[in-house]
Amino acid sequence: MADPADLLTRNRDWAAEMVAGDPDFFRRLEAQQAPRYLWIGCSDSRVSANVISGLAPGEVFVHRNVGNVMANADLNALTVLDFAVSVLKVEHVIVVGHYGCGGVAAALDGKGHGLLDNWLRHVKDVAAKHARTLDALPAGARADRLAELNAIEQARNVCHTSIVQEAWARGHPLTVRAWIYALHDGILRDLRFLVRGQADLQPAYRLSLGEDG
Ligand code: CO
Repeated sequence: MADPADLLTRNRDWAAEMVAGDPDFFRRLEAQQAPRYLWIGCSDSRVSANVISGLAPGEVFVHRNVGNVMANADLNALTVLDFAVSVLKVEHVIVVGHYGCGGVAAALDGKGHGLLDNWLRHVKDVAAKHARTLDALPAGARADRLAELNAIEQARNVCHTSIVQEAWARGHPLTVRAWIYALHDGILRDLRFLVRGQADLQPAYRLSLGEDG
């Protein structure tokens, strides 16, 4: 599978398989995409939104970057979020972090990574905010805890965008969640950050951090 031309062959096999199972599949998708979910995940090749969530083309709108960051001045992410919410009318935004994330590990290792360090500043901000929690953990457990905290904080950033705030204000039903994916077993886990509107935000945030009550 080293040759990109092999991908074209595999693509034809896949398209033929899809049509064999559902002759109208591509005609339907061509006419309209109506995903119910926006997935904001890491670019990591092992964390493919459609594959791990069992969704077909057309079922999930996707934004991925290193470390599943929702930076509030990132025009790319904001545009995806706005298009998903305002035009496609998705009902669920899910920020998906993952254990074993290279971006998160790089944010913690204290080494220089060139250009990447500018981007990882967003993840380092999360680490600084939760320094006490992270410092209390054994060194080997910190990156995975930061991957969880980062998914939660980025989901919180999603909630604070004008896009989501205005969607809630006009009564658009929209949930925002944070999940974490484990490479070792292929399972997505809920981080208990589930927000349906502004009133949920603080309680959900506290619950997700384990600060019940
Ligand atoms: Co990653």
